[in-house]
Amino acid sequence: MKIFIDTADIDEIRDAAAMGLVDGVTTNPSLIAKTGRGQKEVTLEICELVDGPISAEVLATDFEGIVKEGKELAAWHDNIVVKVPLIAEGLKAVRALTAEGIKTNVTLCFSAPQAIMAAKAGATYISPFIGRIDDISGTGMHLIQEIVTIYQNYDYDTEVLAASIRHPMHVVEAALLGADVATLPHKVIHQLLKHPLTDAGLEKFLADAKKTAGA
Ligand code: G3P
Repeated sequence: MKIFIDTADIDEIRDAAAMGLVDGVTTNPSLIAKTGRGQKEVTLEICELVDGPISAEVLATDFEGIVKEGKELAAWHDNIVVKVPLIAEGLKAVRALTAEGIKTNVTLCFSAPQAIMAAKAGATYISPFIGRIDDISGTGMHLIQEIVTIYQNYDYDTEVLAASIRHPMHVVEAALLGADVATLPHKVIHQLLKHPLTDAGLEKFLADAKKTAGA
């Protein structure tokens, strides 16, 4: 499974990339707004740090606007993937952008029917929002299972990108189900590394080593 980082924070991306853990980056308008900087400036800086797919989201919601904005975003850098909302106008735009060789990430997916439509339109990635389904007492992981099964049944090329990940078990479950990618907040990347027995074991080794230091 590929690991993307879900942030526009340059320090977070630099930290995770230094561990060799980042295959790509996803951003959205809320994440860009948190930086207090412009989308283009931040996105181009991300492209310098990570050599992989970098999702940048359009703000237009009509076909012509999404295609125009999508082409502009794609022209910024070869690694840009145009993030498009899962609405009818968005899927029309995905079809047009795909025909021009521009990669797309269809976002705000909350159902299997929506995911089928996105694959039919030619999306490069589909982003089901796991955590937000859990937030309203659903089971986000069921959606991952449905989409992975459906895409396998019909050999769709669209990759399943598990998004809105909130904790390490989301990552493990998405991997067990065969999601192609999980996009993780920086905090979750560090949570994945942690184990109390690792910390306790290291503390004991270092304490024991001190007993024979200089011997
Ligand atoms: O990038 C889209 C997605 O990962 C957002 O997550 O935590 O805002 O639901 P969240």
